[in-house]
Order: sequence, then structure tokens, then C-alpha cells
Amino acid sequence: MPLTPKFTLTQFLIEERRRHPEATGDFNSVILNVAMACKHIARAVAFGALGGVYGNAGGAVNVQGEQQKTLDVLSNDAFLRINEWGGQLAGMASEELEKPYEIPAQFPRGKYLLAFDPLDGSSNIDVNVSVGSIFSVLRAPERLHEGEEMDFLQPGCTQVAAGYAIYGPTTMLVLTVGNGVNGFTLDPNLYEFVLTHPDMRVPEDTQEFAINASNSRFWEAPIKRYVDECLAGTGGPRGKDFNMRWIASMVAEAHRILMRGGVFMYPRDTKDPSRAGRLRLLYEANPIGFVMEQAGGRASTGRQPVLSVQPSSLHQRVGLVFGSKNEVERIERYHLEPRRDDFSYPLFNERGLFRAPL
Ligand code: AHG
Ligand code: MN
Ligand code: MN
Repeated sequence: MPLTPKFTLTQFLIEERRRHPEATGDFNSVILNVAMACKHIARAVAFGALGGVYGNAGGAVNVQGEQQKTLDVLSNDAFLRINEWGGQLAGMASEELEKPYEIPAQFPRGKYLLAFDPLDGSSNIDVNVSVGSIFSVLRAPERLHEGEEMDFLQPGCTQVAAGYAIYGPTTMLVLTVGNGVNGFTLDPNLYEFVLTHPDMRVPEDTQEFAINASNSRFWEAPIKRYVDECLAGTGGPRGKDFNMRWIASMVAEAHRILMRGGVFMYPRDTKDPSRAGRLRLLYEANPIGFVMEQAGGRASTGRQPVLSVQPSSLHQRVGLVFGSKNEVERIERYHLEPRRDDFSYPLFNERGLFRAPL
């Protein structure tokens, strides 16, 4: 069989670098080290129960008070060990660490910051459903490269690169360096990421939405209205039927939406008044938001583009809506319109499919 040359992630990054003659190669090293960490995690995920990586990590809980799984801890360690030594980073922030990770003194520091969710979709780990890793690369402020918490508090529009790896039936790395979105599939023989999905685009329209409907009694009026209208189908104001999906791995939902369109919502709700939403701004919403916008989709809190939110803390949560542009814009419009109870909308209240609590 003739050998077909494959365009690998490394080759892709070299080509990208040619467009920036001033580049030192540090940026490419960051991405390649992230990719290496993802390969390591992909291998552990693939071995599953055989690798002894299922189950909880003792009684450990992370900063969010969530039970850590063995694979959460393993993935976090992979990100830290593989990215700490290269000399390109000023610091790292992880979902699993309360404070930013300080680069050990024996390693040089560099000009980039890396924020990540080492394993997204924890509830799916032990049940063999797709999980992933999400990462965001920022520039460290131009002073001492300390990598303190405040250094990470930059709005998503300042990201220099972002993406995710999905550990599904195949492992893929989806990356933006601010010049569109490209998808690479992990070749199980070469164990290299190979460009298989150049210039990924999110269809502007969709008839598919994703939301955890068990929270419907906590939703705010604009989200209730949107979902109600989708559920009303051909006979409702949208005049068409919608399909619904919920995997509970945001990475997997984002990937589906990137491939065939759709809208994902984990909106701000009233379930827990102490939080603004479920997903974390710096290492979940911002990187996925950057990927979506670079692919022609849209990402929003409902009230403002997610990439414009000024972060106030490392683990800050945010309401998140992303995906097909026209649907996200519609949801944003619903947030701008007068409150639901200020006008009479027939599908709500008595006839509402998701009724507000009395
Ligand atoms: P993580 O596993 O990193 O904590 O993130 C899980 C997130 C996200 O991936 C998913 O969309 C959401 O939590 C699922 O939440 P519900 O369990 O409320 O459906
Ligand atoms: Mn997550
Ligand atoms: Mn996680």
C-alpha cells in the first residue's frame, strides 16, 4: 500500500509559524506540550478499567467541592508535568487546583499562561462516555512572569490559542490559534495528531438544542421561552420541530455542534444563588467560546459575548450559551426583551410546557 503523507499537528504549527517570522517557537512548544498531555490522557482513558483508572480518588474534593475522580487527578498531573519544564509558561491554572500552579524554581519561566480543565465530563468517566480536556493560552502580563491569579483574569478575547481534546470513539484535538478552527485526529499507529478537519465551521442554523432540562424550574424567563418555543415544534412560533441532546460532557456537545450545528445552554439559573452558572469562565467557557467564534458560531452569557466578560476570580462561573449563530443571537434577543411576565406569551404560564414555580 503506498504511503500517503499525513499533515501532522507539528507540520501545521510550523506552517502557521511561517506567517509570523518574529515567532520564537515558544508558542508552538506550548501547543505541542498540551497535545502531548492530551495523548497521555487519551491512552489512560483508552485502557479504562484495565488501567485501574476508574473510580474516585480517595476522598479528595477539588476547590469547587466536587469529588475528584482518579482520572481527574491523573489528567491534572499529566498537564502539569508535561507543561512545567519547557520554559514557555509563566504559570498554569487548573480546575483541580485552588491557586495557580507555580512553575518550579528549577525550570525557566516564559511569557505564556495556560489554563485548563484537565478532564471535562467527570460524570461520564466511569461509564465509558466521551470526555475531554479543555485549554486556553493567554499572554502573561509584561512584567515579572509570576503567574499569579490576577495575571489570569483577562477577558477571553485576549486568548492567543484555545481548544480541546475529545476522548471519544476516536481522539481528536480541535485547535484555534485565532485563525479559524482545525481538527486533528489521533492516528493510533503513529500516535500523532493528523489534520483531518481543516477550517471547521458551525452551521448558522440548527434544529437541535442541548440543555439539562431537569433544571427547568430554575431557568430564567428568556431560556424558558426559548426552550418552550423549540418544544412547541411545527405548531409553535418557530414553525419547525427541534431535536434535543444532553451528554453532560461539554466538550462532546461542543464537538457535535462544531460538526453539525446546534445550540448548547448551561444558563445562569436560580438553583444556587451563590453562583452565576455552572461552567467555569477561564477554562471552560472562554476556550470553547473562542473556538465557536473562530468557527463562525457564537458564544454568549445571554447578556453579553462570553469573550468580553472581565473575570474577577480564577474559578468564576458563568452562564453559557453557544453554537449556531442565529440561535444564539435569538437567545440574546430574548434576554434583551422585556421580562416574560411583562407581556403575554401564550406558551407560558397556564399552557407553559415548562411552568414557572408558583
Ligand atoms: P467537569 O466534569 O469538568 O466538572 O465539567 C462537567 C460540566 C460539563 O462538562 C457538563 O456540560 C456539565 O458539567 C454537566 O452538568 P450536569 O451534571 O448539571 O448536567
Ligand atoms: Mn468541565
Ligand atoms: Mn473537569
